[in-house]
Amino acid sequence: PSSRVVLSPNLTTCHQSLSDADVPVYCCPPKPESDEPFIDFKFPDESQPIRVRRPAHLVDKEYIAKYNKALTIMRSLPYDDPRNFIRQANMHCLYCTGAYNQKHSNALLKIHRSWMFFPWHRMMIYFHERIIGSLMGDDTFALPFWNWDAPEGMVIPIMHMNGSFIDPDRDSSHLPPTVTDDNYNHVESGLGPEEQITANVALMYHQMVSGAKKMELFMGCPYKAGENGFCDAPGTIELAPHNTLHTWVGSNLNPEREDMGAFYSAARDPIFYAHHSNIDRLWEVWKGLRGKNQATLIDDPDWLDTYFFFHNEKLQLVRIKIRDVLDITNLRYTYQEVENPWLNARP
Ligand code: C2O
Repeated sequence: PSSRVVLSPNLTTCHQSLSDADVPVYCCPPKPESDEPFIDFKFPDESQPIRVRRPAHLVDKEYIAKYNKALTIMRSLPYDDPRNFIRQANMHCLYCTGAYNQKHSNALLKIHRSWMFFPWHRMMIYFHERIIGSLMGDDTFALPFWNWDAPEGMVIPIMHMNGSFIDPDRDSSHLPPTVTDDNYNHVESGLGPEEQITANVALMYHQMVSGAKKMELFMGCPYKAGENGFCDAPGTIELAPHNTLHTWVGSNLNPEREDMGAFYSAARDPIFYAHHSNIDRLWEVWKGLRGKNQATLIDDPDWLDTYFFFHNEKLQLVRIKIRDVLDITNLRYTYQEVENPWLNARP
């Protein structure tokens, strides 16, 4: 049955791309990935431990010290090594600024603002997590999640204020103890801490519950291959708190609020991975809330068969499909159960 065309990158086309403000950026790997052999993704062996992602404000000193050390190693690896920290960050730049053309058309491939958002970022942090674990020799290592949807998490996690977790390019007026503005839009809300927390919780109720009753409202619109396939209607959580906290964290002194404020630079801030770990958790929470009989699973093969390429911890280039990442048990990780205070925040 095969004239069906799914969205995928043409690895031979990596080229200069444009930042959100149309400034040229270049994030292609030093050697074209198209010259490398690739393998198809396989689930980790069932004998591997389940990695438990925990809230960033609850992890202990020993965990932070080990993770910090692995980050130091990643930063010191040569740029030729895909585990190098900036190479990791550039994965985001590649797929988010349109550095690749699509496989079957010259249209650019960009994974934001559509139903590619959740699965693509799941893949990125999955590989990142396993690379960190292998560098520290710990196959139980799990990323932390920045629990910004709960009052205790509504501040930049203290762990991200130390050692290798620091990024100097953040808005200094938003550092702890400033409460996150989960609906930030370049203007300070002027709310006191308590009011800001209430506003954040109310926003979450809308984004997760009342405003997310249909699949497309939460997941984003169907983005298809080809010249006219881009759809541009992000899901609720992608718009806020996802985009808004990117902007809120990034430095007001930089033209595009780099690092976190711009696609090309966002993943250079280690907080990016904790931010996306929470986004990924909320995808699971939303599926749980909508329940089995409500369509939360997209059965469109164009989406399921869409594939991307990442390097794994063994430096192999892996082709991975969206259908591979829909069940996190197969991926051998999970999230520590936490309260979701917004659940009861119906206005
Ligand atoms: Cu690809 Cu948080 O952005």
